[in-house]
Amino acid sequence: MNISIHDCKEIDYACEALILPFAENETGIYDNLHPSLSELIRRVSAREFRARMNECMLVPSPGDMKPERIFLIGLGKKEAISPEKLRQAGGKSGVFLRDAGIKNVALSTGFLSAHSLSSADFVEGCLLGVYRFQKYLHKKSDSAIKSMTILAKPSKELKEAMHWTETLSASVNFARDLINTPANDMTPKHLADAAQSLRKRRLTIKILEQKDVRKLSMGAYLSVAQGSHQPSKFIILDYKGSQEPPVVLIGKSITFDSGGISLKPADGMEKMKYDMAGGAAVLGVIKAISESGIPVHVMGILPATENLPGGAAARPGDIVNAITGKTIEIISTDAEGRMTLADAIGYATRYRPRAIIDIATLTGACAIAFGTCAIAMMGNDRKLLDAAKKAGEDTHERVWEMPLFEECRDYLKSDVADLKNTGGKGGALLSSASFLSEFAGDTPWVHLDIAGTAWAEKERPYIPKGSSGIGVRLLSALIRKMQ
Ligand code: BES
Ligand code: MN
Ligand code: ZN
Repeated sequence: MNISIHDCKEIDYACEALILPFAENETGIYDNLHPSLSELIRRVSAREFRARMNECMLVPSPGDMKPERIFLIGLGKKEAISPEKLRQAGGKSGVFLRDAGIKNVALSTGFLSAHSLSSADFVEGCLLGVYRFQKYLHKKSDSAIKSMTILAKPSKELKEAMHWTETLSASVNFARDLINTPANDMTPKHLADAAQSLRKRRLTIKILEQKDVRKLSMGAYLSVAQGSHQPSKFIILDYKGSQEPPVVLIGKSITFDSGGISLKPADGMEKMKYDMAGGAAVLGVIKAISESGIPVHVMGILPATENLPGGAAARPGDIVNAITGKTIEIISTDAEGRMTLADAIGYATRYRPRAIIDIATLTGACAIAFGTCAIAMMGNDRKLLDAAKKAGEDTHERVWEMPLFEECRDYLKSDVADLKNTGGKGGALLSSASFLSEFAGDTPWVHLDIAGTAWAEKERPYIPKGSSGIGVRLLSALIRKMQ
């Protein structure tokens, strides 16, 4: 979709559909545009159109103006309008107009600016909402909105906001594509190739092979990789937008999680292709930040591997050495995410980073507790936790903090090793984070569990069914505040 800004009166802009946003009981706002248009609005709002949240209506325009059709989109009660509501309206509008076969549209912005809302939020919802994953379909739908024109003065501020929105939405959709791709194609090698495709000025990519990570003594990560024939890839991205110490983002990158020898039940196992959603989100963030040239030093680490029960797979009871030297008793090979993250976090601390943030589809307990409503968050640094919470509110990729009590560590006491990798069902969300904290040490660190939010069973206004791409907007917003 091509987005442009054009300073032109609504009635003078030739397009297939003119988008007019409305709040409930506020139908007079377009009275000054054109007498026959206000008459049309008066008529439909008497009955058919109430401007309820996400209510859509497409009508032929009165003949004496350039737009062929008028599209009314409801934003609900005026007092409750917010950037999130606007994103939702953008998503709904995009899907509605696309499915109606409309190819080019224009957005009226007078109402939005009168309420201090940015049209960029509407565009963001639209770009995210019209996403489709059709790679494997022979019969692809080719309906698409080709262009959207924002009817406003092309100020520097608006241009920049629009440019960022386009970059960010493309990065979310990039992550969604990776996550939706099935595990036979989205192998660790493919994930490494996707990382390589981002290479550009100031962004270097390094892939550590199995022999390299063996030298670094990443025994926890290797214990997961050893059950699969697909070679693991430890992917490191380094975007040097500034000379400061880096912020390191670590994304869980299990390209398929069968559970290993602690095999998962068959029901729903196909969904475990999304166990690399954290890694995909990190790639999305690095893509957005590097393409926009944001002056901040960000690294991304993706300890990519499959978790399969091959003949060489790790067994429950095995004891392995993590990069920090700690020994770990494997109780369940299905608690593989934390094994890969433990080594990645331990490795990241060697860069003396400003902060480490990991993002992972780590526990079923998170999905049970929060569903798709929130990301579970735990960490050891109040400032970083608060900044992540704020970024979550701004992007509506909301996080909810859970405690990291001293006592949670007791769940992980092993009789034969320094730690065991699971603490049982009770408190599973907390003990998983407690396990990771052992490897972060004193480095400011935050853990984000996206097990519930990374996949959408039901579509929402700007999140189609399937992978949500969650984390890209959240972490990009957080990083932008850290420059
Ligand atoms: N990838 C799963 C967690 C998961 C479950 C993500 C459902 C998305 C939806 C993770 O590797 C896992 O298997 N966790 C186990 C840990 C347990 C063995 C301690 C779990 O949560 O059941
Ligand atoms: Mn697992
Ligand atoms: Zn997993």
